[in-house]
Amino acid sequence: MHMVDEKVIQAAKERYGELLERQLKRVEGLKQEGDWTDFSGLDRLIIGVCGGDGIGPYICASAQKVMEALLEERIASGNIEIRQIDGLTIERRVEVMKAIPDDTLAELKRCHVILKGPTTTPKKGDPWPNIESANVAMRKELDLFANIRPVSVPELGIDWTFFRENTEGGYALGSDGYHVSDDLVMDFCVATVQGTERILRAGFDHARKTGQNYVSVITKANIIKATDGLFLSLAEKVAEDYPDVEWDDWFVDIMAAKLIDPARRSDFRVFVLPNLYGDILTDEAAQLQGGVGTAGSANAGKRYAMFEAIHGSAPRMVAEGRAQYADPSSMIKAVAMLLDHIGEAEKAKRLDMALDICVQFERKLVMTGRSSGATGDEFAEYVMDTVHRDDLEQAWEGYVHAAKAKNVCL
Ligand code: IPM
Ligand code: MG
Repeated sequence: MHMVDEKVIQAAKERYGELLERQLKRVEGLKQEGDWTDFSGLDRLIIGVCGGDGIGPYICASAQKVMEALLEERIASGNIEIRQIDGLTIERRVEVMKAIPDDTLAELKRCHVILKGPTTTPKKGDPWPNIESANVAMRKELDLFANIRPVSVPELGIDWTFFRENTEGGYALGSDGYHVSDDLVMDFCVATVQGTERILRAGFDHARKTGQNYVSVITKANIIKATDGLFLSLAEKVAEDYPDVEWDDWFVDIMAAKLIDPARRSDFRVFVLPNLYGDILTDEAAQLQGGVGTAGSANAGKRYAMFEAIHGSAPRMVAEGRAQYADPSSMIKAVAMLLDHIGEAEKAKRLDMALDICVQFERKLVMTGRSSGATGDEFAEYVMDTVHRDDLEQAWEGYVHAAKAKNVCL
């Protein structure tokens, strides 16, 4: 072999060795993992609020008002503390050249749960240095392995919950791809038994707990045989512990089609899928619900949990002076999920119903992203007024019933 090639291969092997070492260490950590935190047992629950950047601080502030109104008593009694955490802006991250500045990470780790606005993720060619995504880093640092993304369109019979693996797959080493030579670059995809099994169990547990009893596992195991192959074979194993839960498996390409197939889509309930497929399919699914601006997500780990929108920071809206018109629905949805996570299921349910009414049915205020529509704060107020309606539940049921009747052939 050519001398230069040997040097190139030696350097790549060393780099690969370092990555393997880090991942094997991670597996050892996963083996020691404890149980889920029980938030109901805490004397004082700390909720960190981290606005992010771009439209993040705007929509996060509107959502925070909703959250604080719903938790008013617990905040007043000192049972819940809200902590503002700055420092996740792109300027600050670039200044210290880190995905999450150390002091910000330390502050985040002192909270139990976090409400987080979108953060700008640089890519090659942007004016920013190409640092790792703050989102991805936070998911890895706090081990937020379950990205839970509900999508519901009652009139189409759509009631889906996606369990996206959040710390492995193509994302684990997404910023550690290797430039082997001038002509060759390689990325890596990671799956561990522990990491795969825990997301599968989270999905199956959810299907059982909610009585939906149906899980669809999504891979491309016919092509990506090692990591997706593991995902699928562990699904078979985990499913044995849930004989009451029906399950099937699909390849991601055909599932992308089935999600928009009116004849099939209303059959699906819970999806469990690797990181990248989850990223892609959840944007597609959210579009059916009214766009990514309406979808919230939980990033849950056994110790910490972070709640956020599923979309980015829309810097263009800020540059054009339209940030106050950004739709906070996604972040308010994230608040509903946060409430559910900390044991406020009833409040979460009311907020979910109010969001359905405001976003999909009644639409007294409409967000257009410009001055032709409502501001985020006005919309948040509309949602809160709806939460407080005495007839909330009946109104919601009425809307859903009417919408379903319009779509008799779902
Ligand atoms: C999401 C986003 C993120 C992701 C980006 C911003 C890093 O698209 O939460 O789906 O790819 O996971
Ligand atoms: Mg995404």
